[in-house]
Amino acid sequence: MSVFKENFLWGGATAANQCEGAWNVDGKGVSVADICTGGTLGKSKMITPVLQDGTFYPSHDAIQHYTRFREDIRLFAEMGFKVYRFSIAWTRIFPNGDETEPNEAGLKHYEEVIDTCLSYGIEPLITISHYEVPFGLTKKCNAWASREMIGYFLNYCRAIFTRYRGKVKYWLTFNEINSASKPMGALLNQGILNDLEHPTVFMKQPDNPQQRYQGLHHMFVASALAVKMAHEIDPSYRVGNMMIYSASYPRTCAPADVLKNQQYNRIINYFCSDVQCRGAYPSYMERFFAENQIHIQKEDGDDAILKAGTVDFYTFSYYMSSCQTTDRTIKDGLGNILGGVPNPYLRASNWGWQIDPEGLRYALNDIYDRYGLPIMVVENGLGARDQIEKDGSIQDDYRIDYLKQHIQQMKEAVKDGVDLMGYTPWGCIDLVSASTGEYANRYGFIYVRRYDDGTGDFARLKKKSFYWYQNVIRTNGECLEEI
Ligand code: BG6
Repeated sequence: MSVFKENFLWGGATAANQCEGAWNVDGKGVSVADICTGGTLGKSKMITPVLQDGTFYPSHDAIQHYTRFREDIRLFAEMGFKVYRFSIAWTRIFPNGDETEPNEAGLKHYEEVIDTCLSYGIEPLITISHYEVPFGLTKKCNAWASREMIGYFLNYCRAIFTRYRGKVKYWLTFNEINSASKPMGALLNQGILNDLEHPTVFMKQPDNPQQRYQGLHHMFVASALAVKMAHEIDPSYRVGNMMIYSASYPRTCAPADVLKNQQYNRIINYFCSDVQCRGAYPSYMERFFAENQIHIQKEDGDDAILKAGTVDFYTFSYYMSSCQTTDRTIKDGLGNILGGVPNPYLRASNWGWQIDPEGLRYALNDIYDRYGLPIMVVENGLGARDQIEKDGSIQDDYRIDYLKQHIQQMKEAVKDGVDLMGYTPWGCIDLVSASTGEYANRYGFIYVRRYDDGTGDFARLKKKSFYWYQNVIRTNGECLEEI
């Protein structure tokens, strides 16, 4: 008997802007991801509001999933996927974002994706907005900085909720909504860009906390209204939130470190989900807002909307953990985009993310204790450089090891009593990295022959982890060993 439920949702996750390509095809408009250049860990990608000739924009071709989705989903089915988490590119449905009528070619494309999934018995899990706000809305109203966005977002939701009724059950409103707790989330998550003429360094976006937090308020209201709309359109729809859970420990047991860690958890890990799961702003934010000169402008009725639009389930990404300290001589870890210093007990990936499987058990228990909602781990995985061997194989034992250890900890969490619905490792097929904008940072069970110098034929190759994960799914997580 497996520890996991009989109908446990094993699968994988992608996002349109990181895999589809075809950035200006079939009526698609430009998204904020399409104006970001390639980069690396040491050299930040650039935000170029005016596209530059001769510059490499990885989202423009990505891995050509737009045209190859049938081949890709067939491979997912071969691994035994029960669920495929993907996002709809908002700009395929409303190219500029403010049109009144949706683009039929875009709606038809995702209908085909959904039908292909269903033909293999794969449940679609759709992220409505995953780092691909229409750039047209940035230009029109600075995107989520403006309250106007709520209406545009709801038009988009109505179009897809109506069109895919009866075919889709699970929806997520905003990918990693709490990435807007840091300046890095301003453009990708919220579409906010204050300089529309000059390039901006992605990793050094000028910060405007007032705008980010006001933007989050608009997103909370939009998410709550989308939950209500989804239930009205189809009562069987289940709508979740989506958070980056950045597990965090006090670096020492000094009370000041413990308090700093509590503060970090509140702002980074709890604030957004407290609003989306409990339906109200937590009291601890009042002091944070006052001390940071942030004033949230609410309209009459907003509090009631938040209360009425809480999510049906909680989802999150989990990759790493870090520590909090008041010791200023210890510097933040490399690649740790949500802040925090390295943990001396853990080792890091090539991209500086500290690997902590037990942190996943901790996270699952922490979340379940707090909200009591069903939970899904919708992103997890190891970004690594893979090598194609002379015989054409890819021996990614390090990835198998990472995933195995995390699944083991999910088992422990289920035994602890957590209601875990499913698991969709990130980048189940290699794609473009969101933070660094490169292909070299690979997560997939499937290798894609596409490289950062723009070469490659996009061919798909099964890695060793492909067969390993196939066996994990076949045994409902019972067998984690190599076959
Ligand atoms: C999450 C995002 O932050 O992590 C994905 O939801 C992203 O879009 C993933 O790709 C991994 O991060 P990165 O920067 O390695 O691509």
